[in-house]
Amino acid sequence: MAFVVAIDGPAGTGKGTITKLISQELGLVNIDTGAMYRCIALEAIRKGITSIEQEQEIIQIAREAKIQINNENGNQQILLNGEDVTQEIRSKEVSGFVSPVSSIPKVREIMVDLQRRSAQGKDVIMEGRDITTVVFPEAQVKIYLDADVEERAKRRFKENQEKGMAMTYEETLEAVKKRDYNDMHKKVGALKIAENAVVVDTTKMTIEEVKEKVKEIILERRK
Ligand code: DC
Repeated sequence: MAFVVAIDGPAGTGKGTITKLISQELGLVNIDTGAMYRCIALEAIRKGITSIEQEQEIIQIAREAKIQINNENGNQQILLNGEDVTQEIRSKEVSGFVSPVSSIPKVREIMVDLQRRSAQGKDVIMEGRDITTVVFPEAQVKIYLDADVEERAKRRFKENQEKGMAMTYEETLEAVKKRDYNDMHKKVGALKIAENAVVVDTTKMTIEEVKEKVKEIILERRK
């Protein structure tokens, strides 16, 4: 196994931002596994599927989807069947449907396999919910990023506002709580702290501070 940095944690802990910055600074390939589940949710919505009762159809989508993550200067471009869906997979609709989609065990099996293959022979930094526990339990670096739920909702709210997304703080907080619950109660791949993972509580830290802390942990193991 090449060098793998695995990062897990709930939504809004800054995983995406931190991972992007560190991948640029340390020359690691950045693999955002949430984007992969988001692609499946987007394709399902496009096909008119709005409930996970249609599990078989969603599994079929996961089997057929061609997901590609391109990294340029740390910026990720997500291609779904050749189409650039980088922006669209962050929509409110996709965010609302992705957690149930990602709770389907067969969908997870297909995505975990894709994630392992994407990392083959590369030095990577991979973030998600089950990277430290299921995808790469043997990763050289395992980090769990955490923060209070109100703080995480505040960050998401600000992010959404910058993107021009119309959602109140209360709606954002409710959405984050609902996603936490779903992510932590999945039958397969539930979010939890892995054995030997270093927990970083980011509630009172700036992005720069978190980045420096995580970098320090990685460089210590990379020696
Ligand atoms: O990190 P994110 O918000 O883009 O993730 C989107 C959803 O996908 C989130 O609800 C949890 C799920 N997910 C998962 O179950 N396993 C992963 N490795 C990554 C994300």
